[in-house]
Amino acid sequence: MLAGARRAVVFTGSGVSAESGVPTFRGAGGLWREYRAEDLATPGAFARNPRLVWEWYAWRRDLVMRCAPNAAHLALARWMAASEAVTLITQNVDDLHERACEQGGAAVPPTRLIRLHGSLFEVRCTGCGWSGGYRGPISAESEVTLPQCDRCGGLLRPGVVWFGEELPEDALNRAIAVAGSSEACLVVGTSGAVYPAAGVVHAAAAAGAAIVVVDPGETAFDGIAAVKLSGRAAEVLPGILPL
Ligand code: OAD
Repeated sequence: MLAGARRAVVFTGSGVSAESGVPTFRGAGGLWREYRAEDLATPGAFARNPRLVWEWYAWRRDLVMRCAPNAAHLALARWMAASEAVTLITQNVDDLHERACEQGGAAVPPTRLIRLHGSLFEVRCTGCGWSGGYRGPISAESEVTLPQCDRCGGLLRPGVVWFGEELPEDALNRAIAVAGSSEACLVVGTSGAVYPAAGVVHAAAAAGAAIVVVDPGETAFDGIAAVKLSGRAAEVLPGILPL
């Protein structure tokens, strides 16, 4: 199914990074101190306590920086380098797909790697709206040490989509369009619980694409999958991608 598709999309969630050591959202290890992601990743949480939210993001950035792409990221990067027919759409805010592509020596154009939920390594100004990449240190010692905008001095916030916020319109539209003209959709490591991102898979299914799910647990897509492979991404993907 994957080899025969003239256009294919890959839709990934936090499970694809689990074997790199990044905790999934709803699985064990998804807690930081006593907080759940749903309690910290909201505009209200940031308004109430920006220091706490930045501290959490600083911890997650450090964690991801110490992790490396696993065999699943690397197999997907090889497939993308081998075939221009493949577009990867991720809900993840880590940078492990990009790093896998770089390690493979193939610069994948941004049009073929669509991020729906932003990135841990981007920031946005709460004052003037400027946004860009940021990999520098973060000190959440006090409100005045938090990252500030070079342009207007406003407070910077993480460049990720929080609960209750809109997804970047351009990225979502491109994702739905490419999924809606695909012949195969490989879904890896996502429970499918979060919309509108999960709508990407339904757009592919509505277009007649074969849905292939790789996940050791139950997912919301199991009922529409042509094939469900109940296994871990890093074990399954290297064996099934048409390379
Ligand atoms: P979830 O925690 O909901 O789902 C993770 C999925 O990964 C589950 O289905 C697990 O069974 C599966 N999984 C665990 N280990 C795996 C492995 N080794 N290989 C493959 N799969 C594995 O996380 P997401 O579906 O990513 O949104 O969550 C979607 C969105 O919800 C996130 O992007 C985030 C969150 O709210 C935002 O931050 C906006």
